[in-house]
Amino acid sequence: MSMAALPTTRVVAVIGSGAMGSGIAQVAAAAGYTVKLHDARPEAVAKAIAGIIGIFNKLVAKERMSAVDAAAAAARLQAAATLAEVADAGLVVEAIVENLDAKRALFTELESIVGDDCILATNTSSISVTAIGGPLRVPQRLVGMHFFNPVPLMALVEVVSGLATDANVAATVSDTAAAWGKSPVHAKSTPGFIVNRVARPFYAEGWRLLNEQAADAATIDAVLREAGGFRMGPFELMDLIGHDVNFAVTQSVFQAYFNDPRFTPSVLQQELVNAGFLGRKSGRGCYPYGAGASVPQPRCEAPQSCPAQVNVEMAPGAHAPVVEALAARLRERGINVPPRHAPEGHASGEAPAFHCNGAAVYLTDGRTATARARDNHHSDTVLFDLALDFATAKRIAVACADQCSPAAFNAVVGLFQAAGFTVTRLDDVPGLAVMRTVAMLANEAADAVQQGVCSAQAADIAMQKGVNYPRGPLAWADAVGVDHVVTVLHNLAIAYGEDRYRVSPLLRRRQASGAAIHA
Ligand code: NAI
Repeated sequence: MSMAALPTTRVVAVIGSGAMGSGIAQVAAAAGYTVKLHDARPEAVAKAIAGIIGIFNKLVAKERMSAVDAAAAAARLQAAATLAEVADAGLVVEAIVENLDAKRALFTELESIVGDDCILATNTSSISVTAIGGPLRVPQRLVGMHFFNPVPLMALVEVVSGLATDANVAATVSDTAAAWGKSPVHAKSTPGFIVNRVARPFYAEGWRLLNEQAADAATIDAVLREAGGFRMGPFELMDLIGHDVNFAVTQSVFQAYFNDPRFTPSVLQQELVNAGFLGRKSGRGCYPYGAGASVPQPRCEAPQSCPAQVNVEMAPGAHAPVVEALAARLRERGINVPPRHAPEGHASGEAPAFHCNGAAVYLTDGRTATARARDNHHSDTVLFDLALDFATAKRIAVACADQCSPAAFNAVVGLFQAAGFTVTRLDDVPGLAVMRTVAMLANEAADAVQQGVCSAQAADIAMQKGVNYPRGPLAWADAVGVDHVVTVLHNLAIAYGEDRYRVSPLLRRRQASGAAIHA
């Protein structure tokens, strides 16, 4: 435990004993703190304490907690019938209803109860920490301590500083979260903090792809999972979260940034909410649920034969490692891939990653295959999407230029199938699925860093530990190459003519200097 954490001799008070408050009380008690739980509804406190003790007993049964530790932790949980009973707290964590007036009223009352050295923390996920602290006598001791649901399983805690928050208060809360076994990151109080802001494109690009009929939901989900390495695709994840909840967060962030088009909600999701198709909990969302529901299967291409010879060539720079990984996988499968050679003969255009039976095959750069075929004067043009790891990905998404011959396209499909990929054809949308999602996640994270909301390291930790991304968006941009990510975003901005895809100044600066985002 860090020296600066709240000592275990001090009491932690948790106000609001619902889903979040009981989880927070559980981790604090398990970490050795005496926890006083309070709720406007006393029955909520009784239910929370009984629930936590039940979980401790289950952990004992699974031999993940000793009976002695469980009994001691259970004994550290106390019900506070009135707010006055938390007077001796060293830290109060508020997890009541998500309402500014209610939170202000609670903290104002607490200021007249607790000692001057008591830290006041709010678990709000969408209200300005600065605003909650505004009317307080000592706003310096008010800080955000934003946990993720379910609290005992999710490691991330965003420690959020409002304008008045004392840096030492934030540091103590951060060290205390670490002492509770959590992974804290610092953030400045801005709409969505880190996770709820940077994650928006994961959902939004999914909706955009669906709206443009790139593919159906099941196919897009499969691409994000099996090529992108995400644990769940956007649509199955939103079905789990609930479209009412997810849409409300998107709207709240959109409004909080004064209608910045980056965060524009989707009319498709609004229709689901209008219909009451809220996801799993209502039996229907993007997918049907319940007995007899037929689960839509992702689409893939029919088997094609593998071309005899594949030439690999590439322009120096940008996405060389991506193509090397693919070439290595092809060779492993016994496909004849001659070593890559210099991109001669491409004076009027760019060198593709592969030549395959006359088809030029490129990693998407944010242009459509159709535009790229025109730009390079080469009709038989096929694009492939980004994968988290080309050596192990199960699926790859491709797009075909409108000018491309079926024979050339099928040769490329056969090549990827021979390498062991399930091949999914998306309609020829700019940036395909994984690439545009990752580029937009990195773009949002880069803006958060550039605006001083958090460090690059914090942004990546937050997305890995708060929403289980397989890689931090900025580390991912480094792996793809910042130069290529900027090209993708730039081309998306041209393709759509929308400010939504404007490139983060930080990405442009790193592109110009040639430096990675993580030094
Ligand atoms: P919940 O509805 O499960 O629990 C809230 C509890 O607070 C209820 O038991 C209610 O009786 C009590 N309460 C309401 N007003 C009160 C007051 N003035 N004084 C004392 N108790 C009061 O809500 P949940 O989901 O636990 O959320 C609580 C807070 O945590 C909210 O601010 C929410 O935005 C935030 N949060 C929620 C997350 C989630 O996924 N549910 C994730 C991160 C933060």
